[in-house]
Amino acid sequence: MTIAVVANPNRGTRSDAAAPMLAKLTSERAESVMTFHRSIDGYQPTPLVSLPHLAAGLGVRGLLVKDESHRFGLNAFKALGGSYAIASHLAQRLGVGLDELPYQRLISDEIRSRLGEITFITTTDGNHGRGVAWTANKLRQNCVVHMPRGTTPERLRNIQALGARADITELVYDDTVRLSAREAEENGWVLVQDTSWPGYEDIPEKIIQGYMTMLGEAIEQMRDENLTPTHVFVQSGVGAMPTAVVGCIVNAYGTSDEGGPVIVVVEPNNAACIFETLRATDGKIHPAVGGLETIMAGLACGEPITIGIDLLAHYVDFVASIPDYVSAQGMRVLSNPRRLSPTEPVADGNGGRSADRRIISGESGAAAFGFAHEVLTDPALAGVKQQLGIDADSVLFFISTEGDTDRAGYDAVVNDGAYPKPSAPR
Ligand SMILES: Cc1ncc(COP(=O)(O)O)c(C=O)c1O
Repeated sequence: MTIAVVANPNRGTRSDAAAPMLAKLTSERAESVMTFHRSIDGYQPTPLVSLPHLAAGLGVRGLLVKDESHRFGLNAFKALGGSYAIASHLAQRLGVGLDELPYQRLISDEIRSRLGEITFITTTDGNHGRGVAWTANKLRQNCVVHMPRGTTPERLRNIQALGARADITELVYDDTVRLSAREAEENGWVLVQDTSWPGYEDIPEKIIQGYMTMLGEAIEQMRDENLTPTHVFVQSGVGAMPTAVVGCIVNAYGTSDEGGPVIVVVEPNNAACIFETLRATDGKIHPAVGGLETIMAGLACGEPITIGIDLLAHYVDFVASIPDYVSAQGMRVLSNPRRLSPTEPVADGNGGRSADRRIISGESGAAAFGFAHEVLTDPALAGVKQQLGIDADSVLFFISTEGDTDRAGYDAVVNDGAYPKPSAPR
């Protein structure tokens, strides 16, 4: 297992195919999605954390991390997609625009009785299902959640605690998705899946759009700080979230040819379906090779999202595939950011301290950061650093998409040093 990086050979070749999705990810659309999310009780923009001391130590101008562990108290960004997709679906059922259904009205008795009883079903490795269960709970509707084998009990309990009927199956992620799709069909339930296939596209499109709130906030936060990213690193599972990221970034800053940031998609070695699909030039979907075994549970998906793949193929500059130790190292670095001196305490966000602020980032959340950190610190990757065009003027943007969603796993990595970097030669 090693780090592999490929310059996307499809870059710039699918303008027509990518255009429809790009047009759905404009700043105007982001504004209307944000209006919906802002209406939800407890909404707050998540912080954009700057790590100036770490950046100086690594020889770049800036490191910016959007910290999604603070999203709605759910420890991950995912509820943005499920909530927006469900609300859009219900608005359609009721024959009204979503602007007529702000959150308080959506959860009202009036709407509940007009809708009657609904069951939402989904498959999840944890974060997406928690968001769907949370939304169904607020709407006082039913929710069924299937999880792939290997899911940790903590993630199952978090979903059950929201009133959903949840279980861990014996199937891998993609087969569990098929199980949920079948049950939805048989029972007349609403499938809220964060990936698409021919014939199942409306809800995944809304999920992608739901993620725009995260980008809308980040772009605003960067503008407030007068910062423009030169590089965007994003971790991928099926690629729905990266589709939102790429669309919003290209619409806001232009492509890398036009002076916009270089975009890099990062995946686990054993679940690299975007990597496989983008490095091929036959225009076909290529599943991941490897059995989806990885500590990056949220990224353990074998088949890419069909409605996002042309946009990714057209705009992504590089794809990278990483072993588990790379994200583990990213988690440790984010948890223990650079101090001014060995005696300086780690900043905890309470202000007043001059060291970088700590970010609690889980296995999937830290993947892209871990990759960039390796590129910046391992002399064997100096060629990759050059290929990506990273230098002292670079401002690197990341999204820590989850916190410690598996606390035992987080503790093992961050406090006990699990998944250390193998000593050379790798
Ligand atoms: C924490 C986390 N990060 C990233 C992703 C990747 O999102 P996508 O599957 O849309 O590529 C997921 C997906 O579940 C996730 O849970």
